[in-house]
Amino acid sequence: MTDLTTLEADVLAQVAAAGDLAALDAVRVAALGKTGSISGLLKTLGAMSPDERKERGAAINVLRDRAQTALNDKKAALEAAALDARLASETLDLTLPAPYRRKGSVHPTMQTMDEMVAIFAEMGFAVAEGPDIEDDFHNFTALNFPPKHPAREMHDTFFFNTKEDGERMLLRTHTSPVQVRTMLSQKPPIRIIAPGRTYRMDSDATHTPMFHQVEGLVIDKGIHMGHLKWTLETFLARFFESDTVTTQFRPHHFPFTEPSAETDVQCDRSGGEIKIGQGTSWLEILGCGMVHPNVLRACGIDPDEYQGFAFGMGVDRLGMLKYGMPDLRDMFASDGRWLAHYGFSAFAAPNAASGLS
Ligand code: PHE
Repeated sequence: MTDLTTLEADVLAQVAAAGDLAALDAVRVAALGKTGSISGLLKTLGAMSPDERKERGAAINVLRDRAQTALNDKKAALEAAALDARLASETLDLTLPAPYRRKGSVHPTMQTMDEMVAIFAEMGFAVAEGPDIEDDFHNFTALNFPPKHPAREMHDTFFFNTKEDGERMLLRTHTSPVQVRTMLSQKPPIRIIAPGRTYRMDSDATHTPMFHQVEGLVIDKGIHMGHLKWTLETFLARFFESDTVTTQFRPHHFPFTEPSAETDVQCDRSGGEIKIGQGTSWLEILGCGMVHPNVLRACGIDPDEYQGFAFGMGVDRLGMLKYGMPDLRDMFASDGRWLAHYGFSAFAAPNAASGLS
């Protein structure tokens, strides 16, 4: 048995001495490979008597198992050491600056919205807000849309699934529900604008499924169309920083105003860019009118005592016109190059004292 003890000590010493995976594999082949020292011992069993084979065979198997275990343990240790060495050499310095850092900028829609708020604030309007997810009452019913009227569908409304109580919430199709919320929560005189996001199933060069509006509402005694026209013309001249803005008021129909009008701004679209104050095109930028008596009544205001006007403007479209962007869809494509080109400095917030843009 001494030969086995010596061989075991020898193999274990070689395993311990192996400095890398290649050396360890050479030890494995020399001991357990086809012609290895331990494999060779197993081959001598055939020439032995059954009793001798039983005893000797068991001893050789024990030796083989011990050698295999030592090889496995050493392999795991060498692999762990190799991984540690790799982790130590492959460092990543997260504090290094990124190769390309674009400066953030204010989106043209937000810039336009800020400019509009600055102008209307100067004209004495307060800012009101309402939720993007509305109910049928605020978006339609209180605004004098008759039940089941096709105008509800004409708004290309995004409806949510019908709830258990039969109610169907929706994404507001305009900021006009904020008129209703304001009249229900405060007494006249009222002078507010309501900026916010609105949604309709529509997409082309001048429509996107999500867009922005600024609603206006004035309720007081003796309000008439003249006040409305003056307010809009004063706003547009201030916004476009020009007296040469030409507008056209077209008679229109909205269920919530009577009479109603749509306003277009004259522009030129010929050179792939949009320019105001010239050209033969018109871009519709707002709807307006005198608040319908039914809307006043739905909001608890006596139409014989109070009158008012309202308007709703497309913010993104006003931005397109002012800053010469030809396609509304680009505004929401999140293209860094577009934003770098059309974006505004966050330090130049528009205000009445230092200017708009
Ligand atoms: N809510 C209308 C629209 O989105 C615009 C509008 C607002 C018209 C207020 C008249 C008065 O088309």
